[in-house]
Amino acid sequence: MSREELYIQYHGLFLPKETHSVNSLKFAQEFSFENDVIAVTYPKSGTVWMQEILPLILNDGDLTQIQTIPNWDRTPWLEETRLAVVVDQLKSPRALVTHFPYHFMPASFHQSKAKAIYVMRNPKDVIVSSYYFHQMAGFLEDPGTFDEFLDKFLDGNLVFGKWTDHVKSWKHNNLGDRIMFITYEEMKEDLPAALRRISSFLGKNLSDETIHTIAEHCSFNAMKDNPMSNFSLVPKIYMDSDKSPFFRKGKYFTSSFTFV
Ligand code: A3P
Repeated sequence: MSREELYIQYHGLFLPKETHSVNSLKFAQEFSFENDVIAVTYPKSGTVWMQEILPLILNDGDLTQIQTIPNWDRTPWLEETRLAVVVDQLKSPRALVTHFPYHFMPASFHQSKAKAIYVMRNPKDVIVSSYYFHQMAGFLEDPGTFDEFLDKFLDGNLVFGKWTDHVKSWKHNNLGDRIMFITYEEMKEDLPAALRRISSFLGKNLSDETIHTIAEHCSFNAMKDNPMSNFSLVPKIYMDSDKSPFFRKGKYFTSSFTFV
């Protein structure tokens, strides 16, 4: 399918029509943030991982949500169509995710006490992960050869724009202590330590036992086996795991990739 058929344009960004609409973007702009928490990522940087981590931390390690609610409904995307459907079922403090650059966040976010967790991943790994994801996702453009895809990535000619613009937009924020930064690599390196850092940012003082339980259920293998998280509920025309599994490798190029 052509780019016009697959994507809508929104203030210069391309977004997949399958999950975004004029109404969902209006809903996002009018969304009323309260004491919520939102994980922010450039695509393929650990979004689905945070969709598992946040409900577990906010519910003191209770597994009910991750075992009964698909990730797109338990920790919905701010900009996607599902948010309007499930918003009334979300318990406070609500956990959301977004791929929006900073300046796309709605006015209420800035006026609220909502917290943001920006997850950054080494762009070398983002490119590879994204390349395979474009092969398996029926709602994204065919990536072409790796070289062609690399050029598109470097030009920012992909959904949600340029990686550097995204990271820069969130690095230069006015959120004070309402935002924390973490990397995919930090989470890979020592997940319990990363979970403790996220918990304390969210004002949750969890026991070592709870942190251990959460780490176990957020491991790559546990999530790959969780039908509420591994996208096996999604028809193959949208996500075809025979072409490439969503939980592909879950590895990192270098562990020393940190915010400076
Ligand atoms: P790979 O394609 O490199 O395997 P997103 O959720 O932002 O789309 O990012 C998807 C990437 O995060 C995929 O990377 C996926 O395997 C990885 N991922 C998801 N959950 C993970 C986990 N628990 N541990 C490590 N990597 C994880």
